[in-house]
Amino acid sequence: MRKASKSSVQKAGVGPERMKVIRDPTKMQATANRLRGEGLLIGFVPTMGYLHEGHASLLRAARKRSDVVVLSIFVNPTQFGPHEDLAKYPRDIERDEEMARQEGVDYIFYPEAASMYPEGYQTYVNVEQLTRSHCGVSRPTHFRGVATVCTKLFNLVLPHRAYFGQKDYQQAAVIRRMVKDLNMNLEIAVMPTVREADGLAMSSRNVYLSPDERKDALCLHESLQMANDMFHSGESDAKKIVKAMRANIESKRSARIDYVSIVDTDTLEELDVIRDKAVVLLAVFMGKTRLIDNDILCRGTARRAR
Ligand code: PAF
Repeated sequence: MRKASKSSVQKAGVGPERMKVIRDPTKMQATANRLRGEGLLIGFVPTMGYLHEGHASLLRAARKRSDVVVLSIFVNPTQFGPHEDLAKYPRDIERDEEMARQEGVDYIFYPEAASMYPEGYQTYVNVEQLTRSHCGVSRPTHFRGVATVCTKLFNLVLPHRAYFGQKDYQQAAVIRRMVKDLNMNLEIAVMPTVREADGLAMSSRNVYLSPDERKDALCLHESLQMANDMFHSGESDAKKIVKAMRANIESKRSARIDYVSIVDTDTLEELDVIRDKAVVLLAVFMGKTRLIDNDILCRGTARRAR
């Protein structure tokens, strides 16, 4: 995939100074078809808005490697369970537009729920196995909603490459699998997790944390560092590492573990012994807010940057 010449990009009338907001799915698809017809490479960052530095890093990666950058902002109802935070999910479209402009976005696709799921809607995409474990246990319909909306977004934005964050490790694995299984014509790029200065992974849900919960939430990153240190000091027994991580998390007042798990990087199957590579996945409630994080353990590579 190669970027087009500067003059073709200019001719297509795209550029951050002309950032456009498209609300109608049909118009989004017609625009994407036109851009593809002009030979332009479309980079896509799907989000639910309330953008933070993690999203900005995805937009920057897309900007570097594409002629046209499309950002979608859509709080997708089908990936929320009945008792989850759909109604109160944080939203700030004006701030998002400003950040998008600064990051050189060409198009924001900002559809309404009724235009994505009109009356009579009944088609869903289900990735069978990868969605059953980990987040799929406490959020049984979540990945069906994610896979469905990503399929719809890919069909509307027609990207050559779509960018996801490693923080949502299971989500990225599900999307990769779906793209492969359904022969979708795009590449999935997974970019490193962006963290606050003290190590907390950036997430739109961090705004829900009280000051005490925010302090305690550092245990997610701390316990991942602990796993990394144990692994690089020669420990390969996954149960021992998980036990140490759990003890660290359980020592925090506001923390309640959903899962801590060391798994194969592709299949997400639980490992007893870590050979060359594995991923540590965790989900922890801090008060009522459920946070996730992960880290890849890889023999032969330097310890993770702090
Ligand atoms: O990661 C997210 O923000 C969402 O799950 C996604 C991929 C935009 C689908 O709604």
